[in-house]
Amino acid sequence: MNRPIILEPSLLAADPGRMAEQMAAAERGGASEWHFDVMDGHFVPNLSFGPHVCKGLRPYTSLPINVHLMVEEPWYYFEDFIESGATSVIIHAETGVPEELAVTLKVIRDGGAIPGIAINPLTNVEEVAQYLPLVDRVLLMSVNPGFGGQAFIPQSIERLKQLRKLANEENPAIQIQLDGGVTLAQVKPAIEAGADILIAGNAVFGAPDIAERCREFIREMGG
Ligand code: DX5
Ligand code: ZN
Repeated sequence: MNRPIILEPSLLAADPGRMAEQMAAAERGGASEWHFDVMDGHFVPNLSFGPHVCKGLRPYTSLPINVHLMVEEPWYYFEDFIESGATSVIIHAETGVPEELAVTLKVIRDGGAIPGIAINPLTNVEEVAQYLPLVDRVLLMSVNPGFGGQAFIPQSIERLKQLRKLANEENPAIQIQLDGGVTLAQVKPAIEAGADILIAGNAVFGAPDIAERCREFIREMGG
């Protein structure tokens, strides 16, 4: 199946003082969605940015802003992000009991955003099965969440295959996102294993020429 592949740069790796300018460069190079990492200092040992930053960036881009909530009790936060212009809200399977998370995913959809579920590298892929009827996207972490710039965990490719198989049993239209340590070297194996959306932070914003790096990604994706 020939699926369209999306390059989604992670804004965590952008220069905070030049965010809009660097986003424009990535967009010129072919990036088509944004990844917005939210960290609470509890679920992960780091802090990043909240809804007001999402709202502040919204007027500078027409591309979707996908919020990756690495927070405990995500139900307290998702509404603020939807009001701040988030296109999609992704919550973690490790942050609540299934009943709470299922309700949260339904309310995210009712609120007009695309719901997604994420799993950490140590969480069984099968955990995702119960949420598949409720989501359009599944995010597979290929580093332990909390920090950008970490090395890609190679076992993630095998997990991606398992996840693709599981997702196809529910609905082949479910999009799989790969997040963490993704560089040009992971593009082909990740697509072959079933990824639809490649999230890349440092590989994009750490490049000397951001637009050119995005073009390299798109070429590697076969686009
Ligand atoms: C990690 C985040 C990732 C990460 C991606 O906690 O969820 O989105 O910042 O950045 P790189 O590509 O630098 O790992
Ligand atoms: Zn992320």
